[in-house]
Amino acid sequence: MKTFKDPKKLQKWAALRKREGAKIALVPTMGYLHEGHLSLIAKAKAMKADEIIVSVFVNPVQFCPGEDYEKYPRDEKADYEKCKAAGATAIFFPTPANMYLENHSVYINEEQLSQGLCGARRPGHFRGVCTVVAKLFNLAHPDFAVFGQKDFQQAQIIKRMVRDLNFDLDIVVAPIVREKSGLARSSRNTYLSDEEKTRALAISRSLKELKANPAQRLSSVVKKLTQAGLKVDYVEAVDVETLKPVKKLGKGVAVLVAAYCGKTRLIDNIVI
Ligand code: PAF
Repeated sequence: MKTFKDPKKLQKWAALRKREGAKIALVPTMGYLHEGHLSLIAKAKAMKADEIIVSVFVNPVQFCPGEDYEKYPRDEKADYEKCKAAGATAIFFPTPANMYLENHSVYINEEQLSQGLCGARRPGHFRGVCTVVAKLFNLAHPDFAVFGQKDFQQAQIIKRMVRDLNFDLDIVVAPIVREKSGLARSSRNTYLSDEEKTRALAISRSLKELKANPAQRLSSVVKKLTQAGLKVDYVEAVDVETLKPVKKLGKGVAVLVAAYCGKTRLIDNIVI
């Protein structure tokens, strides 16, 4: 597996591989890899990519002031080993300084899908995500890039960015990977104590119950989360394409949840 730190070197190599006819997959991550990330690599493998490039970069620009940028878990050595074992062919570990040169002043703003949900609660978050993902697309020359459905809003925004800015690649969205308990896998789960992990299960459990019985009201989810001692940030039903709120649960609707378990903000969703 190749390792790149310098964006220019990755870009040169990826362009060469592309000219040679290789099918390139990109798996963008912030590292501290878990089964969810490995499923994205497995998806790229199943789609017969010749090169699977995994980027590992805790992108400072997508964190809001007061968020967990400094304490976000990092373990480059373990990430390297996991990527290698999973069949990635290249890993990219840039630094903030070589991704954002002095006086970096160009950013990408998506102006519709990012207005609600996490976008409303984390101002500037999706501007940071779109900017770094666009940069990764330009560096890795992927034929396709794989994102997880856990970040449902992010995946829809990236698809819109690709469509609206004519990026020449496909976006593949892979299903949420859950722990046996049902908890959606996330690098941030490492912040949770055992007791918090148990309380956090109310999120996946109530979403599962809602999917089984869409006649329930969203307020029943809010109630279950609150009873479990979680602080609800939002529980919303939205149209999967427009991300606009809908009143009735049914086909083409996603229910998205963000809730704090202690200090940890967790997200999850289901598509009905
Ligand atoms: O989903 C993530 O881990 C990040 O938002 C991404 C897509 C790697 C951009 O930094």
